[in-house]
Amino acid sequence: MAGHKAMSRGNILLQVEDLSTYFHTAEGVVKAVDGVSFSLEAGEMTGLVGESGCGKTATALSIMRLIESPGRIEGGKVLFKGEDLLAKSPAEMRHIRGKEIAMIWQDPFAALNPVQTVGEQIAEVVKAHEPVQVDGWLPWQRRRRNTALWQRVYQVMEAVHIPNPPVVATAYPHQLSGGLLQRVLIAMALIGEPTLLIADEPTTAVDATIQVQILQFLKQLQAERRMTILLITHNLGIVARLCRRVLVMYAGKIVEDADVYSFFRQPLHPYSRGLLQSIPRRETKRGTLPTIPGSVPNLIHVPAGCAFHPRCPEAFAPCTAEEPKTYAVGEGHLVKCHLFA
Ligand SMILES: Nc1ncnc2c1ncn2[C@@H]1O[C@H](COP(=O)(O)OP(=O)(O)OP(=O)(O)O)[C@@H](O)[C@H]1O
Ligand SMILES: [Mg+2]
Repeated sequence: MAGHKAMSRGNILLQVEDLSTYFHTAEGVVKAVDGVSFSLEAGEMTGLVGESGCGKTATALSIMRLIESPGRIEGGKVLFKGEDLLAKSPAEMRHIRGKEIAMIWQDPFAALNPVQTVGEQIAEVVKAHEPVQVDGWLPWQRRRRNTALWQRVYQVMEAVHIPNPPVVATAYPHQLSGGLLQRVLIAMALIGEPTLLIADEPTTAVDATIQVQILQFLKQLQAERRMTILLITHNLGIVARLCRRVLVMYAGKIVEDADVYSFFRQPLHPYSRGLLQSIPRRETKRGTLPTIPGSVPNLIHVPAGCAFHPRCPEAFAPCTAEEPKTYAVGEGHLVKCHLFA
């Protein structure tokens, strides 16, 4: 995007340039990520928001190089510490995943093996990262439980405030609440002490109290370990509370990119303004919450011009004809909309 480097921002850890990822389905080509550019500042938490189906998870999976058939990364660059992840070999990527970049999956049940205890699953990750754990064993001990390994597993579980680790470790995923499962996933993601953590809707499977706890925990991690976090969420309230920057995605594209102060003071894109109006406020009367009319387009047949124009209250002639460019409005505030041409 224009103006990226001119802004007064900290060190950039990850820079995504013109990334496109399409799913080649029988119905047609789904342009899930379509020319996306953004960057993440080292040690900061950045929110990626947008309605369901706009391409948030596909963006995360592209960064991790975990897009599977019929999906394909069509082009672009994912510069991590200056090196393009899209040019790395599968073996190099396996090393980077977990060690440098870890992900907390949107669906904790799908991310875990249902027929293996959570303790065993954490232990596997520990072993993958800390092979020295099994060194120095006497032959007769080989058949017994690896005490050092399990001490480490419990320690990892304690670090994410899982109560009574030796008991919880023996549970199968279906026996645990959504909140505990999410913590198990966070624990697994943190074992390699990644520089970048991508948290995809880490709180959808849990109730409001647990949600607050998990988010506070992520915030604490980000502050204590100077971890860089990309937080994917539907919830702009969470972004306001925790993030330094926000990226708004619509129909496979980033439509607004700003620091949270200027974003919440003055959201520029009509889509962002619509998202903000649909957040409940104290003064909102019951049943009066506005929502953005219409729905996210099918990403096979995206409307011409600006994809948001059929739902946009401010659409005018150019919006149906031409895709808007990305404009810099003020310091580091980018918006992809004809209103700012
Ligand atoms: N494996 C797949 N095959 C075909 N289409 C897919 C596949 N995975 C995702 N898509 C499509 O790509 C688009 C973007 O999906 P994605 O999962 O990235 O959305 P999202 O923003 O993460 O949504 P949500 O908020 O519901 O998680 C959607 O249109 C989706 O249907
Ligand atoms: Mg998703």
